[in-house]
Amino acid sequence: MTKEQFDAEFKQKLNSVEAAIEKYLPPADTRPSIVHKAMRYSMEAGGKRLRPILMLAAHDMFPSDVDPLPACVAIECLHTYSLIHDDLPCMDNSDLRRGKPTCHKMFDETMALLAGDGLLTYAFWLLGEYYQNVPAISNGLVRDLAFGAGSQGMVGGQVEDVLGEREGKMTPDKLNFIHENKTAALITAAVTMGIRMAGAIGDEKLDIARKIGRNIGLAFQVIDDILDVVSDDATMGKTTGLDAANEKTTYVSLYGIEKSREIAAELSDNAIKLCDSLSPNCEFMKALIGRMLNRIN
Ligand code: IPE
Ligand code: IPE
Ligand code: MG
Ligand code: MG
Ligand code: MG
Repeated sequence: MTKEQFDAEFKQKLNSVEAAIEKYLPPADTRPSIVHKAMRYSMEAGGKRLRPILMLAAHDMFPSDVDPLPACVAIECLHTYSLIHDDLPCMDNSDLRRGKPTCHKMFDETMALLAGDGLLTYAFWLLGEYYQNVPAISNGLVRDLAFGAGSQGMVGGQVEDVLGEREGKMTPDKLNFIHENKTAALITAAVTMGIRMAGAIGDEKLDIARKIGRNIGLAFQVIDDILDVVSDDATMGKTTGLDAANEKTTYVSLYGIEKSREIAAELSDNAIKLCDSLSPNCEFMKALIGRMLNRIN
């Protein structure tokens, strides 16, 4: 796949995700409008939409007639809720997100908390509503998203992230647990949900998909740690330098920037090799993994 082909396909997928977000979220004037305004504010603030695009890339590996877009919106709602809560003063205390004031700065802490709750629950409603005619698929999507997002996934990673900051005793093992859960678990769900829409998909394939997600997700968070140091607020659209300011142990503080880059590249290579073993229709997915490794924001 040439760079031009990739760019065109990425743009087409991004546009369809943006249109689906507009279509499927409750209108901002839905009562109580303040919470729907806040939900839309954070969802429409921008964002790279990598989880829904990853889901579409995975869906392309096992094409089906099932419309993946409601599930794409569901995972973006879930992710956006996690960002709103991550930015709260009781967590990372961040003022800037997606190039705009964070939800609690724009509204207030109470509304930010509730907007996050609204997005989290709406994600599961979307999966129940739009896949009800294909119960086996609906069920699999719900299980993947709930597991990836919950206390044995993203929430669990956020818990150990906070504990690490409080206790200050970080080890490579703990850091891997944090990255695997706070970031890779939801990215894994994006990949498995994408291929689940093909219907009867065997455990063996799901296992490979999970390994792909884990490798992409770990690489993604290693790069996030690097960008927190080497990039700036304007490029990232979020407050950078917070990890160091909060004396957080990250890949960069444990291994340095160069070694961290090498680790991220190795993880991406693993993911690309696994894609080849999963499906011949993986050109876009492989190019996307490369793009995520070399991202600048
Ligand atoms: C930020 O995710 C949180 C992490 C898991 C590092 P993204 O970098 O995907 O944020 P958006 O969606 O583009 O704003
Ligand atoms: C956040 O990790 C991961 C989740 C939101 C679950 P970070 O705290 O590193 O994310 P950023 O850097 O604020 O986007
Ligand atoms: Mg955080
Ligand atoms: Mg944060
Ligand atoms: Mg970060």
